[in-house]
Amino acid sequence: LSAAAAADAIHAGSIKQRLAAAFQQSLDAAFPSMAGEPAIVVPCGNPKFGDYQCNNAMALHGKMKGKPDAPKNPRAVAEALLANLPETGMVAETSLAGPGFINIRISPEWLAQHITSMMRDGISTWVPAGYAGRRVVVDFSSPNVAKEMHVGHLRSTIIGDTIARTLEFAGADVKRLNHIGDWGTQFGMLIQYIAEKRPEGLNAASDEDVADLQVLYRAAKLRFDEEEDFKTRAREAVTELQGGRPEYLQAWQRICDASRREFQKLYDRLDVTLEERGESFYNPMLKPVVDDLMERGVAELSDGAKCVFVEGGQNPLIVQKTDGGFGYASTDMAAIKHRIHEEKADWIIYVTDAGQAPHFDLVFAGAAKAGYLPADRTVRIDHVGFGLVLGEDGKKFKSRSGDVVRLVELLDEAKKRITATVKERRPDATDEEVEEAAAAMGYGAVKYADLKNHRTTNYRFSYDDMLSQQGNTAVYQLYAHARIASIVRKSGRDMAQVAASSSVVLGHEKEVALGLQIARFSDAVDDALSELLPHRLTEYLYDLSAAFNQFYVECQVNGSPEEDSRLLLSEATALIMRTCFQLLGIRVLYRI
Ligand code: ARG
Repeated sequence: LSAAAAADAIHAGSIKQRLAAAFQQSLDAAFPSMAGEPAIVVPCGNPKFGDYQCNNAMALHGKMKGKPDAPKNPRAVAEALLANLPETGMVAETSLAGPGFINIRISPEWLAQHITSMMRDGISTWVPAGYAGRRVVVDFSSPNVAKEMHVGHLRSTIIGDTIARTLEFAGADVKRLNHIGDWGTQFGMLIQYIAEKRPEGLNAASDEDVADLQVLYRAAKLRFDEEEDFKTRAREAVTELQGGRPEYLQAWQRICDASRREFQKLYDRLDVTLEERGESFYNPMLKPVVDDLMERGVAELSDGAKCVFVEGGQNPLIVQKTDGGFGYASTDMAAIKHRIHEEKADWIIYVTDAGQAPHFDLVFAGAAKAGYLPADRTVRIDHVGFGLVLGEDGKKFKSRSGDVVRLVELLDEAKKRITATVKERRPDATDEEVEEAAAAMGYGAVKYADLKNHRTTNYRFSYDDMLSQQGNTAVYQLYAHARIASIVRKSGRDMAQVAASSSVVLGHEKEVALGLQIARFSDAVDDALSELLPHRLTEYLYDLSAAFNQFYVECQVNGSPEEDSRLLLSEATALIMRTCFQLLGIRVLYRI
């Protein structure tokens, strides 16, 4: 970083990023031999001592032993870091603890000023640095045509959407790609099954045949598994389809369309947008990619299959099978190349169940070997794996009848169950209002329950838990927001006017705590993105609600001498909550 860029870094981004930038400047100045060693700032473990802390002194001291500028002990390192800390305006006081921990207290005046400007100019003061302008592909949802869309796909849809929304909020240019399984051998089986059901042939096939794809899939699969001859004919159908025979392509299209209509019902309920770019899109690229890999010696023949062997990999990546067919891995190799070379992505994120980690490890290693992923690490690549959804009994999630769970029904059930509560709480509400609130809470509850745990843990799907009005749930959070909205509404004041004419003042201890919590939104966004962990956002939201409650217990808002400032602080809390809902894909409610 140039000196000017380093100075700018102190005044942009999340609180943690700004403090880290300040300590970086100090570290580079105090210890030129250690310049570039990253300064690390984390929230203080115990709020009694400070809001943030910098723990670099101990490690720096260890690394500097024997060097001419080495201080005598870690405490002396910490003292030098403090002596060189540039003026930021954001630090109220610092203290040294133990062998060399630096505790930092954020200035209430600084917080007040930034919250005031957020109320005047918008939330951009709290956007973390480092994401604006990045071109990110998020590959999520990605169900398979004519196969069941299971809860794993629901998780991928919810987690992927939140990651995409959060990146968009942070200024990234996001491409949301739905890598649908719309190509492969299952189509031969389906098309052949339809053809044989219709004596007039495939030309006469209609939407009726594909009205219930799960039923069609099951019937075709049964026949495929039981009848040798049918299996042979189904394989021939795959060849016809791949050869581009028109009726076969039309039948394939019809199946895909029917599937697409089903998927869309779910996306509509969830407010999720996706660009469909299924496996078939990469079909024309498969052969050229494999030929190129063979020519350059990246792939080699092994038992008749074309394989990319990667260092440390137990199995090779098979880019073309012995029978000449291309599979899941072939498509992912073509896709990664396309995303980097054509889409110009500098970050690619794949959201699937954790079970696919070995597949992605191989694809990433293969793409590095092929040179698709530049060696200078300018393209970041992540597999965002997640755990299983379990039934309330802790076993595999299934419907009461034992069938696969239809996801749309599951969402509708959550909505149905919360409707009674909504009516009870607001007997005056119109039908539309009940409908709006039940949808926000019901669908929001399913999303929130999915996002609130560390994504790699398995969680139990429980309507009672997720729809509870207490605890860390969407319903609780939506009520908390509506309560603040009602406090502000009762003041009868125009908040834009209050913001223009008054400023936030953080005097009471609980006001300071709430102000800090509001500003920490920026850290939560950065944490959620740097590790791709959406639960950082729900955890943050929960802490924010708690900070507001503690403030509200001790600080009168309406009718107090501090009314203007406290109204602004309340509205700032509500604004941050709404922004969190937006990132979590949850609709906002103002009255419930
Ligand atoms: N269709 C796959 C499945 O259902 C997920 C695809 C994920 N994306 C990818 N590029 N492989 O398991």
